[in-house]
Amino acid sequence: MNQQSQQSHHSAGRPGIGRFGAFGGRYVPEALVAALEELDEHRLKAAHDPEFIGELAQLHKSYTGRPSIITEVPRFAEHCGGAQVVLKREDLNHTGSHKINNVLGQTLLTKRMGKRRVIAETGAGQHGVATATAAALMGLECTVYMGRVDTERQALNVARMKLLGAEVIPVDHGSRTLKDAVNEAFRDWVTNVDHTHYVLGTVTGPYPFPELVRDFHRIIGVEARQQVLDEFGRLPDAVCACVGGGSNAMGIFHRFIDDAGVRLVGFEGGGEGADSGRHAARFTGQATPGVLHGAYTYLLQDDEGQTIESHSVSAGLDYPSVGPEHAYLRDSGRAEYYPVTDDEAMEAFRLLAQTEGILPAIESAHALAGAMKIGREVGPGGLVLVSLSGRGDKDVHTAGRWFGLLDDEGNLTE
Ligand SMILES: Cc1ncc(COP(=O)(O)O)c(C=O)c1O
Repeated sequence: MNQQSQQSHHSAGRPGIGRFGAFGGRYVPEALVAALEELDEHRLKAAHDPEFIGELAQLHKSYTGRPSIITEVPRFAEHCGGAQVVLKREDLNHTGSHKINNVLGQTLLTKRMGKRRVIAETGAGQHGVATATAAALMGLECTVYMGRVDTERQALNVARMKLLGAEVIPVDHGSRTLKDAVNEAFRDWVTNVDHTHYVLGTVTGPYPFPELVRDFHRIIGVEARQQVLDEFGRLPDAVCACVGGGSNAMGIFHRFIDDAGVRLVGFEGGGEGADSGRHAARFTGQATPGVLHGAYTYLLQDDEGQTIESHSVSAGLDYPSVGPEHAYLRDSGRAEYYPVTDDEAMEAFRLLAQTEGILPAIESAHALAGAMKIGREVGPGGLVLVSLSGRGDKDVHTAGRWFGLLDDEGNLTE
């Protein structure tokens, strides 16, 4: 929803519910309140229903491929100050990223609510692909909104969604990226809310989405914590993850929040530098708390409260606000957040590929670049766990052009 329409929105009206400290809440048009209440009721019931829990667990096992493995990366770690580095391999999930965890949960809820259609927004395309996949699996109609700029930089994922039977609607408003796709998805939802569920793709939006999406991703940290304990006999010194809206980061952080000795470190799209005006670093510089897309959180805005356009080489991090629970973790000091520039992320992308034979998503490469810095801080004997949130297949065009292997049309340069 845009800044103007927020004037007429109202908040949840239940003090404390849906808040992470001062952040979160529910700033939506009246027309959506009943749908959000319905969703909240169903998800709270489902969380205690053995049938729902069993169905989701079975899908994780036989469709997604969970538990995802962890992989130690010693040759990459040579560039990380002597610390050991271990990756949580969400890139190996069906459809290629962590996004499927949340989508399977939400599409199962859609069926429980008796709705026949799902809509989604997507930036990098991974959430759209996951939603189109689950919709095909469960026989639901599916429409995905995607900024025109993103449809161009992630054309392969557009084709994938269409092949899966989804309708993809390019959005030509604003910066024509993720923020604008979210606006359009909310507009569609207001009109079609009786038979449509909005599968929001990250830990932001009005309550209950930040909690709902986090709870479906919590499995990442639950598995990883046990796997690291089993394999290394101790907890990691730091957990690193990239932060767009923040879903993979919340997923891996959440199980470690009570482990006071474990640093939780999020890495944002630093674009051309946090001072350049072309970045997606919501916790640095111009970012201040305000309301965007139904939640009160940190966002890039000017003095008049107009959203400033973000920039990142990675479509999935190119978003001007961040999930409200991250805002809370940051202000309470439990988690730290730093920007990683496009250059640093692409160097980490190249390094992981050439030292370990793993092509990461460019989003995940931000976490890898971050781990190189944190590794130097924890030093020899330290252990750093990194969320490898997705695989790099979707990014081969972007990376190929970045490293001069492909021209703008995607043809080999020599
Ligand atoms: C592979 C991958 N990682 C990370 C992200 C960023 O999203 P989030 O911060 O919600 O994990 C995306 C978003 O599209 C993605 O595709």
